[in-house]
Amino acid sequence: MKTPSMRFTSLAVIALAAGLSTTAQAQNAADATDSATARQKVAMCIGCHGITGYQASFPEVHKVPKISGQNAKYIAAALTAYRKGERKHPTMKGIAASMSDQDIADVAAFYEASGKDIPSPAAPAAPATPTADIQALLTKGNCMACHGADMNKPIDASYPKIAGQHADYLYVALKAYQTERNPQIGRANAIMGPQAKLFTHTELKQLATYVASLPGELKTVPQPKLRR
Ligand code: HEC
Ligand code: HEC
Repeated sequence: MKTPSMRFTSLAVIALAAGLSTTAQAQNAADATDSATARQKVAMCIGCHGITGYQASFPEVHKVPKISGQNAKYIAAALTAYRKGERKHPTMKGIAASMSDQDIADVAAFYEASGKDIPSPAAPAAPATPTADIQALLTKGNCMACHGADMNKPIDASYPKIAGQHADYLYVALKAYQTERNPQIGRANAIMGPQAKLFTHTELKQLATYVASLPGELKTVPQPKLRR
């Protein structure tokens, strides 16, 4: 057992190594874990999620999603869905399969706090008005009712922030909610499945491009000091 003071010291070290600010939120995230395990747990992720613009090639070339600044509850829900096989993406399924509930809680808290000290792009005074075509798609899917008026404040923390996420990733994710009976591609989700199925691929691409253009809090935060 570590003494409280040793524990505090090692947490301060992680917060520094991770480039986290010393805000209460960052401290809470660091609190979720201790030095050795934090390094180990996030070291598994930064090779992909910590490299700006990193490309994945399956099922088509797209950028790895930004997860820094995402809601912890959503990150935990997503990792649990990969672990259960409800999300079939083979790489993430393999990674999540090796994670305990505690690992999932720790990395989710870490990534929610990560990047809070880096300014988000300023929201324009007047939000970008969608074209009439895009507006019709948004209305049909009622996207804002769940993801929030700005797509950055979902009505429930287990729902994702999507504003400013990579367009090519959003498109792949939306198509995955439509895909059934494929062993390697698909996301079985009772909420987003019916939404995605309302649209053609062309429409999903238009929605993805629009959502990606909105200012949001999601980021890729390189963590070179944690590598090694
Ligand atoms: C080999 C590259 C790679 C590694 C390593 C990796 N990921 Fe991923 N991750 C991806 C890709 C690609 C996706 C998109 C999968 C999909 O389409 O469902 C993804 C998706 C995710 C998502 C879902 C994001 C969303 O918006 O729904 C979360 C959460 C996530 N990863 C967390 C992690 C964590 C935590 C680790 C470390 C324990 C990790 N990943 C390691 C490549 C990686
Ligand atoms: C009834 C609530 C609801 C509505 C309406 C809704 N969503 Fe979602 N959305 C969710 C939930 C919940 C998830 C998380 C599902 C999961 O865990 O895989 C999600 C996930 C997503 C994702 C995956 C994000 C990621 O990081 O992988 C995208 C993209 C998305 N929604 C876009 C949309 C768009 C575009 C619309 C409108 C056409 C829409 N959603 C309408 C609730 C909703």
